Amino acid sequence: MTKSAKLTFEKLSLPKGGTLILLSEEEGGLSPLGQSLDKETDQLISKAIKVADFKSKKNSLLEILSPGTTNYDRIIIAGIGIAENLSAVDARLIGGSMTGALLSKKITTATIIAENINISGDLDLAANIALGAALRQYNFDKYKKKPADSDKTNTFEIKSIAIQSANPSASKKLFNSDYDPLCHGITTARDLVNEPANILGPDEYAKRIAAMKSLGLEVDILDEKALKKLGMNALLGVGEGSRQGAYLAVMKWNGAPAKSKEAPIAIVGKGVTFDTGGISIKGAGGMEDMKGDMGGSATVVGLMHTLAKRKAKVDVIGVVGLVENMPDGMAQRPGDIVTSMSGQTIEIINTDAEGRLVLADALWYTQDKFNPKYMINLATLTGAIMVALGKDHAGMFSNDDELADMLTSSGNRTGEKLWRMPLGASYDKLINSQFADMKNTGGRWGGAITAAQFLQRYVNETPWAHLDIAGVAMASNKTATSQSWGSGFGVDLLNDWIKENFEG
Ligand code: BES
Ligand code: MN
Ligand code: ZN
Repeated sequence: MTKSAKLTFEKLSLPKGGTLILLSEEEGGLSPLGQSLDKETDQLISKAIKVADFKSKKNSLLEILSPGTTNYDRIIIAGIGIAENLSAVDARLIGGSMTGALLSKKITTATIIAENINISGDLDLAANIALGAALRQYNFDKYKKKPADSDKTNTFEIKSIAIQSANPSASKKLFNSDYDPLCHGITTARDLVNEPANILGPDEYAKRIAAMKSLGLEVDILDEKALKKLGMNALLGVGEGSRQGAYLAVMKWNGAPAKSKEAPIAIVGKGVTFDTGGISIKGAGGMEDMKGDMGGSATVVGLMHTLAKRKAKVDVIGVVGLVENMPDGMAQRPGDIVTSMSGQTIEIINTDAEGRLVLADALWYTQDKFNPKYMINLATLTGAIMVALGKDHAGMFSNDDELADMLTSSGNRTGEKLWRMPLGASYDKLINSQFADMKNTGGRWGGAITAAQFLQRYVNETPWAHLDIAGVAMASNKTATSQSWGSGFGVDLLNDWIKENFEG
């Protein structure tokens, strides 16, 4: 990851020169016009706004170079839309847009005045701008050894960003306790998704997860031998064609205070480090994207990272199945029948429907071993969810309305939006098999739903949700806070869900 600018929180006091960034409301004032800037500068800015017909729409920027009466190199006016409607996500995006401008203009230091704007009382504007600034600077450039001249923004580093407000110590506290851990969890997930599969195969991935013990997590890595003993033949079958091992990695964060111990929350992720499709091999076009088929697991790892860093007051288990789906003389075949850990048998129709096989055993194991009060899984499971929802929403399937509502709310708060999809008996019967208890594909129609029905057969009474993140975890829409191919989708969402609902 790129080196990040030093972010500081300061009391209001205008710098003498350099780059100054002011916020401007769509139907209101400009911070801190009429307060600390002198009259001439106020007039100069007003004129520039008028000349440019600048409307202060959210995420719009107006740059005034070398403004006459001042010593500033530039004053950047950042539009924030209607201030009282400003949400935390908006503030992060604004911080991201400002930072994008600093990067593209190669500005090494800047001061942002995040004050005198009529925002709603409980939004910490400065802290959220800082989080947006930090996320925007993420850049997976470790393999760019020879940056082309035209590509200099890849390596440009901002040195420092100062964010001034009336109460900088509160912002600093919130940033350090919550947002910095969140940022590191998200960038950890992005790093894992962006990493190519020749570097991050199951063996290396298991090692990296084992190293997370240093964060205070308990980590258990179950290898093939252990998985065989447990009867996880659905998961193991997917890895048969790979030269590398198959693993189930279990991370535990035990943060609940001793007196309020309850059943833990469990988060399960698909970690297919590369998905060729196996014997049912995929076409060549775009296959390189399948290095990101461990996106669900990356979210789990990033989330556990965040929970440990911010010492969350809750018990959470993270479980990821790590395998590589390769064609080989030893690979599993269409027509094969495997017996999952649950005892249910599966006829393999298509070896490319492998994620559900990995999750079948991971979900069963998690439910059986930890008896969680909620179980959520994330997976880049189907192309069909992208056909249904595109790249704006992840698909959510759940057996529990209350859980679905909680997650939808977290999605709206964090901007990591979920759209609930149906489950039902008439979909479920599409995966009945003539030879085994079920087959691993359900035919042409409703592919995301039949995949979810398959997973549900490995969940009993536990309130459960499956998030199909195929459209949002990788090759995702770029935003002001994420320019990365691997988005880290879900870390913010689940961190919010945990924080809002389980930490008293
Ligand atoms: N990993 C893929 C799903 C995927 C596709 C994720 C594109 C991200 C982008 C999954 O393992 C898969 O191959 N699914 C098949 C299922 C089919 C064979 C029933 C699919 O969606 O085509
Ligand atoms: Mn596949
Ligand atoms: Zn896959």
